[in-house]
Amino acid sequence: SKITLTVIKADVGGFVGHTDVHPELLEIAKKHLKEKGKMLIDFHVTRVGDDIELIMTHREGIDNEEVHKLAWDALWSCGEKAKELKLYGAGQDLLKDSFSGNIKGLGPGVAEMEIEERKSEPVIIFMADKTEPGAWNLPLYKMFADPFNTVGLAIDPNMHQGFKFEVYDMIGHKKIIFETPEDIYDMLVFIGATGRYCIRRVYTKNNEIAAVSSTQRMNFMAGKYIGKDDPVLIVRCQNGLPAVGEALEPFANPYLVAGWMRGSHNGPMIPVSLEDAVPTRFDGPPRVCALGFQLAEGKLIGPQDFFKDVAFDNAREKALEIADYIRKMGPFEPHRLPLEELEYTTLPHVVKKLQGRWKEE
Ligand code: 13P
Ligand code: 13P
Ligand code: MG
Ligand code: MG
Ligand code: MG
Repeated sequence: SKITLTVIKADVGGFVGHTDVHPELLEIAKKHLKEKGKMLIDFHVTRVGDDIELIMTHREGIDNEEVHKLAWDALWSCGEKAKELKLYGAGQDLLKDSFSGNIKGLGPGVAEMEIEERKSEPVIIFMADKTEPGAWNLPLYKMFADPFNTVGLAIDPNMHQGFKFEVYDMIGHKKIIFETPEDIYDMLVFIGATGRYCIRRVYTKNNEIAAVSSTQRMNFMAGKYIGKDDPVLIVRCQNGLPAVGEALEPFANPYLVAGWMRGSHNGPMIPVSLEDAVPTRFDGPPRVCALGFQLAEGKLIGPQDFFKDVAFDNAREKALEIADYIRKMGPFEPHRLPLEELEYTTLPHVVKKLQGRWKEE
């Protein structure tokens, strides 16, 4: 029968500030999944920056109420502890106070896929902090559509036909399927606009799921944009899909993403080990971790902490140089995000204060 891989994540309080998760919270989450997760085959609990990541396998399919409730209750218990320890932003991503059917829309990020487990099933869980779901557009394009990244697209007969990309418009609430390589020029018009259009899923041309991101509707509460969702991404690898090394390769170039300080700045995405996923400089720069697992009848064999590899040292060094460079711009665009994309804004207040001083011309 089919296996479902579900990743649910949330920031329920930072230790200290927005940098990390307190170890007691991780213990609570593990204990909760162990004791209450009777329907799970296996699970792995970790954190990247201030985000708790629940990686779970089961046979209940996607959007399963019990699995989502299990994760919600685990995160809720962590949130209670965060309040007790007065951690920063305790309960930040738990936007509602009760669970109703599906965790989507309640604050946490969700990425899940139901698969027929192959003879060998290598998967990578990418987890980022201090950025947004659009941060996966560039690497997903490279993994699944760019032969300069993924040579398999050119030389592997099982990949040569290309892939299908499901792109979601987070403002218009619409989706479209692009076929690659046929549609790449059309697709790039949209996915280059990472604040609005996100790659939500990638399929093979035979409609096998290959990748899924935690792209949900944007977090608007009472009409106000309340922040970027630090995103996760699941990628299946090998045998007609990108090799593990092809899936990791896009991160060897630290491209710019939106997020960082106050969710309001562009900065380089640094690939790091879990140990180094504690963003502190200007609350960043944005981090990405990649954990590899082999699935065996749903068991999570692993993890392998991929970005520990010294081969990503140059990417890290380059990212730090970019960070030094762009930080000098202070509150100026394009380091600071355009007004409409700021997570924090004093604009209405300042506009009001200056009423009467702006003269029509
Ligand atoms: P191995 O020869 O180490 O199995 O590697 C094969 C491969 O496809 C690497 O991408
Ligand atoms: P998080 O989204 O990781 O909580 O970061 C928010 C922030 O404001 C960092 O400066
Ligand atoms: Mg936080
Ligand atoms: Mg975070
Ligand atoms: Mg955030």
